[in-house]
Amino acid sequence: MRFDIITIFPELVTGVSDHGILRRAQQAGLVQIRVANLRDFAPDRHRSVDDRPYGGGEGMVLMPGPLFAAIEFCRGEPQSPGSRVVLLTPQGKTWTQEMAAEFARVSHVVLVCGRYEGVDQRVTDTMVDLEVSIGDFVLTGGEIPALVILDTVVRLIPGALGSLESSRNESFSSGLLDYPQYTRPAEFRGLRVPDVLLSGDHAVIQRWRKERALEKTLKNRPELVAGPVCRK
Ligand code: ADE
Repeated sequence: MRFDIITIFPELVTGVSDHGILRRAQQAGLVQIRVANLRDFAPDRHRSVDDRPYGGGEGMVLMPGPLFAAIEFCRGEPQSPGSRVVLLTPQGKTWTQEMAAEFARVSHVVLVCGRYEGVDQRVTDTMVDLEVSIGDFVLTGGEIPALVILDTVVRLIPGALGSLESSRNESFSSGLLDYPQYTRPAEFRGLRVPDVLLSGDHAVIQRWRKERALEKTLKNRPELVAGPVCRK
């Protein structure tokens, strides 16, 4: 699988993608992560990528020229059927674990990091397959959201994690939040690990974990148990 990330802050992206599981997955040949500097696709000597919005208003908008050139370069021209171009924007569809699982089966993803007040709409209309938001809040740009997509997808590629179990038995895959975990020592500052976990009785441990997962989900995310609230 290949990712291309288009950004005006390449170091922000490589600062994360060159570490931990993302680094290991690249070294193992499971994923190729390339970062393109949008300014390299600017036609002028100032390497400008943004301008003021038509119609007036605050801030700057990313211009179509550099973005068209960068996307065409990264995704190939014409676009190959196996590639998806994603724009990170607060106006996008909310990213979920389900979408991450879907993307883990795509061969090539181009992530376009938005900046400033937005991106020229002609880019979105003609070059972008999907607009994605990571939640109902506004960040200063699309780099952190792009890293969220990258991280959530790469860890689902078979072989990226130490064992398959660690991505299957976890929050969201089961529809519930995760049960609490403990490690040594069995007692720390007077706080004891629940006796059941030291019992060695796997059936009892399984039942205890299921109950704690349900309890945690009802407390923090009741809508995951009850389903979405229907509005008339
Ligand atoms: N850019 C700024 N805020 C964002 C968000 N919540 N999701 C994706 N891209 C963004």
